[in-house]
Amino acid sequence: MEHAESHGRRRLLNWFLGTSAGALCASLVYPVVRYLSPPTVPETTTAQVEAGSTMDPDLVEKGFKILRFGAEPVILIRVSETDFRAFSATCTHLSCIVEFRKARQLIWCNCHNGVYDLNGRNIEGPPPRPLTPFEVHLVSGGPGQPEKLVVSRKA
Ligand code: FES
Repeated sequence: MEHAESHGRRRLLNWFLGTSAGALCASLVYPVVRYLSPPTVPETTTAQVEAGSTMDPDLVEKGFKILRFGAEPVILIRVSETDFRAFSATCTHLSCIVEFRKARQLIWCNCHNGVYDLNGRNIEGPPPRPLTPFEVHLVSGGPGQPEKLVVSRKA
């Protein structure tokens, strides 16, 4: 009788230690597995971005400004009073952010001296591909107000 009781306690103790060790292992392994295979969350897509007035001081003085198009930086360039262009601002070489050199009328990447023309074509330096173009729309800003700029993806 006493032997059967001792055997039962030993089984209970073994079960308890076994499940505790299992739970400990699971609590250590689960976060690592979740980290290595995160759930797939679809990235939100931005259809268009309002980019302010055509008379924005950055556009008038520097000739460009950087916008956020969702998670993507976009460079908006003022070529003239009526000619505005937009491209992905991420250099196609190693992903630095490009800028506009107003004096030379070129898009320039200062990381490795990459140069793009005003159509976004890579023309000098290491960038292997053109910049992705975006569409720029001029929208009425209301009576007596300068027009507004809206940037959208090319269809
Ligand atoms: S990252 Fe732009 S030229 Fe290298």
